[in-house]
Amino acid sequence: MSQLDLSLLESMPMPDGAPGPGGCVRLERPEPGLVVLVIDPPHRKLAVFDRPLMRDLAAALDELARDSALKALVVTGKSPTAFVAGADIDVIEAIDDAQRATALARFGQQLFQRLADLRAFKVAAVGGPVPGGAFELSLCCDRIVLAEHSASRIGLPETQLGILPGWGGCQRLPRRIGTPAALEAILTGKLYVARQALKLGLVDRLAAPENLRRIACDIALGRTSCARRERGLWGLLIDRNPLARIVVASQARKGVMAKTRGRYPAPLAALELVVAAPTTSLASGLEREAQALGQLAVTPVCKSLISIFRGTEDAKKLARSPGGGDARTIARAGVIGGGVMGGAIASLMAERGVDTRLADLARKAVDTALVEHARAIHSSLRKRRMQQHEAEAALDRLEGATSIDGFARSALVIEAVAEKLEVKRSVFATLAKQIAPDAILASNTSSLSIDAIAQGLPHPERVVGMHFFNPVRLMPLVEIVRGAQTSDETVAATAKLALRLGKTPVVVRDVAGFLVNRVLGPYLDEAVRLYELGVAPQTIERAALDFGLPMGPLELLDEVGLDIAAHAAQSLEGAYGERMKSSRLVAKLVAVGLKGKKSGAGFFLYTSDPKSGRPRKGEFNPRVAEAARPHASSTLTFDDVRDRLGLALVNESALCLQEGVVASERELDLATVFGMGFPPFHGGAMRYVALRGAREIVERLRRLGDAPDVRSRDGARQRFEPCALLVERAK
Ligand code: NAI
Repeated sequence: MSQLDLSLLESMPMPDGAPGPGGCVRLERPEPGLVVLVIDPPHRKLAVFDRPLMRDLAAALDELARDSALKALVVTGKSPTAFVAGADIDVIEAIDDAQRATALARFGQQLFQRLADLRAFKVAAVGGPVPGGAFELSLCCDRIVLAEHSASRIGLPETQLGILPGWGGCQRLPRRIGTPAALEAILTGKLYVARQALKLGLVDRLAAPENLRRIACDIALGRTSCARRERGLWGLLIDRNPLARIVVASQARKGVMAKTRGRYPAPLAALELVVAAPTTSLASGLEREAQALGQLAVTPVCKSLISIFRGTEDAKKLARSPGGGDARTIARAGVIGGGVMGGAIASLMAERGVDTRLADLARKAVDTALVEHARAIHSSLRKRRMQQHEAEAALDRLEGATSIDGFARSALVIEAVAEKLEVKRSVFATLAKQIAPDAILASNTSSLSIDAIAQGLPHPERVVGMHFFNPVRLMPLVEIVRGAQTSDETVAATAKLALRLGKTPVVVRDVAGFLVNRVLGPYLDEAVRLYELGVAPQTIERAALDFGLPMGPLELLDEVGLDIAAHAAQSLEGAYGERMKSSRLVAKLVAVGLKGKKSGAGFFLYTSDPKSGRPRKGEFNPRVAEAARPHASSTLTFDDVRDRLGLALVNESALCLQEGVVASERELDLATVFGMGFPPFHGGAMRYVALRGAREIVERLRRLGDAPDVRSRDGARQRFEPCALLVERAK
């Protein structure tokens, strides 16, 4: 057994409150020959592989290696749903030396190998979150038993953080479940719920949380049999056949490139390792894995992705009430308006355990919402994300109504009715008469002021914006809009609800467009202006994709709906004046019936997909040229086009930060990534400024603002005038 270089640990930070040697790991001996190794560091709610835990794990494994009576070992956490959260993100975030990162990967590999080398039958008894290193440690055991609990999530998410599983995951997972399945798990970085994990063979058995430890001990001692999940015939055939592996690898590579456009090095590096695993010795595979991890850990992409991860972790703190403890839990809620947004919000609430009453004046809207809810729940059931009894309960939790009454017991009611101030006010006035005095009234408005909606209500401190994005189930962000009078308790309880719905909340001030739509305004308008200037639509779309955005701006306008976009542009212009003055083209298109994807035509033409029936994007719509009469051609370079789009967005983002629309840079970054698809590899708008350099951005904005068409356009110069915050940073 190679010697562990424990001095390496000294370069890692020692977390506050960490116990002395031996304090993080316990060895229990419930019966002769059996040891239960319990990971239970007192300084963390959920353990991570930080310096004290690595130290104590090394000592415990040393002790076990010397224990000649050891026959069976169970590795577990402090409870059936608390094991280890994975590697210490602080360490990965801080590391700037590839060799040191490689050395730390090797250290973890050698440590885990000591577990694998123990001459005992080893069973991992895990549950709750089991990501990354936690799963890699489990993979060193002979069997893995997972708690069958809604909190259990297991997998190797490292590529999502710009690195790869570097403690043996790229070697042991393909050896366990075969190359194709391991590629799927590692390249997507998915965390699987219990039943999916069992089906894929990530674990060998599920156990009710209360039986987890007992069953694991019985398996370890041979009292209960538990077959190891094998990789299956398909996996075996692929692994044994070099030609088949080449084909699988090439398909996977194509898939990764299509998704990432080569912007993310981690999945590609992981892919090579996983595909080579069946024909590589474990030792040399591990070494290559450590080398690859070292290279990846120091890339800006990795740091950007970690910054976003940190932002989402910080967002969870919004659920704390101002006094300290947890904010109030909303167990029963109401939704008014069962259209596109309200129906989906109500369904998500019911799915996530909130008793929900949905009211819409139109019976048809209620019926459609209930049908859509049933469809969503059945889909979760089919994908094994839910069990039968959970699905039935989720269906029961949503009730429909055609009048605004029966909300007396709702702790929060969210309205998603038509976007008209009088309508929203009257809905809230009706609700205010029946809800409990401490209930919250939330609005999903995208363009009206929360203060204006709250006016005249008895408890304006309990009025808040809860701005979801369309499509509700897919979009990860919710803007929590704090009005001038909204109380801290209201913000915290609403943020907590958003978190429960699986969303990332960002608190924003009540300004026109809030944060996301305000920042999108100048960007989308710039795209339309570029088209009018004679830039080919394909070039505009390509420039945005090249910047790293997930979709071109003209297509995004079609998705949003040109009518909605025109309305949003108008309200931004009303609030901010010249700087937001927008082209009239979109309104003109709406006037001739072109409303985007939902109407079958906008900037692009849409046909119905014969298989799914869903609209499919086709050619650029020739009628747009008739309405716009664009210039014959433009002299702008591709870089100009890309920067006009990207920097219009960045400048407005920086201005929002300057004006305190969000409290911190990290929240701004999070909102730009999750709300508008700002490229995650850039880490968000402000991180992009830091990466590219504020000085260069300021100079570039000034040069873009000097272009003749910009100079001659009302207000456009202001749009490219770098905001004070950028100018300050450029110094
Ligand atoms: P929608 O038109 O699909 O649904 C509105 C529903 O409200 C309709 O079913 C209507 O029957 C119902 N309704 C109208 N007045 C009512 C009243 N007094 N009482 C009860 N029900 C009433 O509209 P959508 O798209 O769902 O938008 C709703 C709200 O969400 C608007 O404030 C909109 O600005 C906001 N929003 C919309 C987004 C989108 O992309 N569609 C995105 C984010 C926010």
